[in-house]
Amino acid sequence: MSKKVSKKTSIIKTEINEEIEKHLNSLLPETREILEKSEEERIVYALTDKFIVHNAIIQVMDYLNLLMKIPKKPRMKGLILYGESGTGKTMLINEFCKKYEAKCKPEEESDEIPILIVEMPTEPKERELYDRVLDAIGVPFKKTDDLLTKEKMISYYFDLLKVRLLVFDEFHNVLNGTTNQQKKVLSAIKGLTNKLQIPIVLVGTKDVLIAIETDDEVKRRFDKFELPVWQYNDEFKRLLRSLEVTLPLKKPSYLWKNEELIIWLLEKTEGILAEIVHILKQACVKAIQTGEEKITLELAKKTISFLK
Ligand SMILES: Nc1ncnc2c1ncn2[C@@H]1O[C@H](COP(=O)(O)OP(=O)(O)OP(=O)(O)O)[C@@H](O)[C@H]1O
Ligand SMILES: [Mg+2]
Repeated sequence: MSKKVSKKTSIIKTEINEEIEKHLNSLLPETREILEKSEEERIVYALTDKFIVHNAIIQVMDYLNLLMKIPKKPRMKGLILYGESGTGKTMLINEFCKKYEAKCKPEEESDEIPILIVEMPTEPKERELYDRVLDAIGVPFKKTDDLLTKEKMISYYFDLLKVRLLVFDEFHNVLNGTTNQQKKVLSAIKGLTNKLQIPIVLVGTKDVLIAIETDDEVKRRFDKFELPVWQYNDEFKRLLRSLEVTLPLKKPSYLWKNEELIIWLLEKTEGILAEIVHILKQACVKAIQTGEEKITLELAKKTISFLK
């Protein structure tokens, strides 16, 4: 090899090493640590959900924080958090909840439950709604008790456990009921806001908006926020950057700079975050197994053909 060629090769090698070092430094500390572990452990880590914070999440969390600061009052404002399936509504609420749980003192006799999450029953009856709330609190009760007794119990335990936010996930299930059942559930929600005087959050698909359409009072009491699907813009590139630092790969993929990959990804997933995350996780596993150690468009495409 001539001296000139060998010098050029060594410059390229140094550049590659610098690039890899920069990449490794950009990874989350826990992600970097995993790189030292076995292939099996790296794969498990790659497939584990990591919460990525983006703009819309910050906006919703700020608003929820604000709601929780408002002292108890009648006609308390609430929030409807809606969006297509897989946009990350449930994950957002669970992560928000974790922040408050961490602030509770576990040594205290009566645990506090700052945020109570209740999944809306698929059969939306007001009786079932109250049962779900009591189940979520974790107190014994008789299913046969009348509604008033259950309402009183809910009120008592909410005070005792200092519940400051009540969330109903999958609220679009209300639409599964007859018109009469829907009306009753909405009036139960109104009843709870009046009695508990704390903010309520209704989470679900766009159908939540249809579900509350019939009740002007409910409509007025809730602000609305849509968790959107992703589109081609700088914010999406930032999301990809945040995702890449969670992938246990030894080489940089530069997902956020790979225009072809970005366009393909958005097309395949229709901008649904759950799908985007799923493809990248699978591609990451492939990159580990093949030794490629980075995600390319070709690799991502192979993942899809394997999935279908
Ligand atoms: N902020 C996020 N960071 C990383 N991954 C996320 C995020 N949000 C969602 N995901 C991914 O998307 C998956 C689905 O999210 P989630 O269950 O919160 O969606 P959803 O909007 O509640 O859907 P559905 O309407 O069907 O209940 C999660 O399990 C996770 O893999
Ligand atoms: Mg959900």
